[in-house]
Amino acid sequence: MSTTPASPHDMTIRHLDIDLSQGFEAHWNGGDAYRSQVFNALSFMFPVGEQFFIDAVRHFLPEVERQGNAALAKDIKLFAGQEATHRHLHQQYNDHLLALGYDAWVERTLQRVMHLTRNAPPKFKLAITVAYEHFTALLGDGLLRHASWSERMTPMMRALWQWHAAEESEHKAVAMDTYNAVGGGYLMRVSLFLLISIEFNIWVAIQTAKMLRRDGMLFKWSTHRSALGFWLGRDGVAWHTLPHWLAYFKPHFHPWQHNNLALLERWRQQNAQTYRAVAARP
Ligand SMILES: [Fe+2]
Ligand SMILES: [Fe+2]
Repeated sequence: MSTTPASPHDMTIRHLDIDLSQGFEAHWNGGDAYRSQVFNALSFMFPVGEQFFIDAVRHFLPEVERQGNAALAKDIKLFAGQEATHRHLHQQYNDHLLALGYDAWVERTLQRVMHLTRNAPPKFKLAITVAYEHFTALLGDGLLRHASWSERMTPMMRALWQWHAAEESEHKAVAMDTYNAVGGGYLMRVSLFLLISIEFNIWVAIQTAKMLRRDGMLFKWSTHRSALGFWLGRDGVAWHTLPHWLAYFKPHFHPWQHNNLALLERWRQQNAQTYRAVAARP
């Protein structure tokens, strides 16, 4: 058994000072239908997905404690706390989308697939979590790095998405450290990553298309132009994602080989007034 040390960085569970009960426009991202609905589609995946991640990682907490790895045990608790607060706010977010009349197709699909994996080995569920956490970390890094990804968001939504991005970066290695600590293998890690790369992108695309169709925006040129720019333009998501996606296949890949602590520190300094720390580990 490996006794991989926990990642050498701060993690904080924060209470974000925003009020989603006031609601928001469906096209809150600069009035751009595509750039709003693609984030809304992601939001519909979080409450169910993040509960799965919490359960998958926390399952191994007793084993990590038995190994005497107190730092990783603490990280697992903070990881669970951060994901639980994300679930809570994104549920409020999604409740508003439902009130606006959108259908949470992707949430139901995710629930069905997770039900199918209920009897899968815990390490298999952890490998799924490691894969998804790599995607949330690389998207989080992009949101903190590229001003163009968030500059047209309303202040409330920008605060929410950047807070989530920062915490995904803070805890990006916890699932991976747990996987290594309990002897998770390379083949399962990368094969599930390939599967999830396909599944995740297809699900987000379908949910986004369903929401755009409801808006009457699915077949508009402006929507497709925006999508092309979002994925393939300057600072496009595809260009940002590709090197991080490839890095995952390195046999000794670790999320902190990509050091984005300076980005995190910038976010902490600029946003200290938007949150209250609930628990932390320096
Ligand atoms: Fe999260
Ligand atoms: Fe996460």
